[in-house]
Amino acid sequence: MPVRTIIIGTGSQVPETAVTNKDLEARVDTTDEWIRARTGIQQRFIAGDHETNSFLATRASLKALEMAGVRPEKLDLIIVGTLTPDMPMPSVACLVQKDLGASNAGAFDISATCSGFLYGLSIADKFIRTNSNMKILVIGSEILSKRTNWQDRTTCVLFGDGAGAAVVTGTTEDRGILSTHLHADGSLGDLLTIKALGTATPLTPEVFDKGWQYIQMQGREVFKHAVRALESVVNEALEANGWAGGNIDILFSHQANMRILDFLRERLGLPSEKVFINIHKYGNTSAASIPIALDEANRAGQLQPGLRILMVSFGGGFTWGSIAMRW
Ligand code: ACO
Repeated sequence: MPVRTIIIGTGSQVPETAVTNKDLEARVDTTDEWIRARTGIQQRFIAGDHETNSFLATRASLKALEMAGVRPEKLDLIIVGTLTPDMPMPSVACLVQKDLGASNAGAFDISATCSGFLYGLSIADKFIRTNSNMKILVIGSEILSKRTNWQDRTTCVLFGDGAGAAVVTGTTEDRGILSTHLHADGSLGDLLTIKALGTATPLTPEVFDKGWQYIQMQGREVFKHAVRALESVVNEALEANGWAGGNIDILFSHQANMRILDFLRERLGLPSEKVFINIHKYGNTSAASIPIALDEANRAGQLQPGLRILMVSFGGGFTWGSIAMRW
């Protein structure tokens, strides 16, 4: 049997404070009805000042490590997918490495927006295939609330904060990650962007006035591309694994919009219980959305050995991808 990558522990952490759609009605010109109907979101968690990205990521990681029965010093690598790090340097991964006391681990962040967790898990998979004893911590963690313009009703109702983590290692049993597919199209990057805060566009008063420090999104365009890309990456994964006809047990899609999830379910002909949904509770948590979903399903006992699982994501960049695995 070839070496395959298995997930041996999951964990997640959201901030203490939940903000409901009704709460948002007091901030911007929106309604609970509009948000539910257009997105499926009912509430999201918003971080307080002490709940930094690395704080949430560390909490999620401790839970994943505990489930895996792995001590932090046994970790070989920490990979964090995020677009909202605590700071440019050090990375969130290094902050987590310090906070966990993972003294033998390398650590780095990757920037793949909402696909960050799947990109990170794909990288971990390649390491594990060359050394099955490795223990790698893969995290998706975001504080999107700090990059959200709370005056812009077209974006502020969508996003939430949170972190999810998974501990992976190798096995020669007939299970684990079967395929990974990663894609990107930088030519469409302007449709979903945070223009300032990098080195190309320093934060001047003019830039600040334009709101370029916040997420800017052409929602309808993003929606169209998301639907198309997710359908194509699902089909690519199904074909690669001989799972034609939507022959899977659970679909974990990036939780961006309920209408996108419904579209995928219909195209695949899946019953609703096979499409994991938690967007109503968390909103769109970008790179954290898939690992939070995995952890919820895992802790609820939904992930039984042998299940065919398909994870798919789409996000700014654009980036998109899939990972198929047998649990
Ligand atoms: N409350 C009330 N009305 C609103 C709100 C709001 N929060 N936001 C927009 N509207 C209004 C608009 O102003 C517009 O009014 P008008 O017709 O008078 O001009 C009307 O509602 C319709 O606006 P649209 O933008 O066309 O609404 P749409 O149905 O496209 O829904 C949404 C918007 C939810 C953002 C949708 O386009 C979407 O989900 N896009 C994709 C987002 C996504 O998938 N992102 C995933 C990748 S990104 C990532 O995960 C980080």
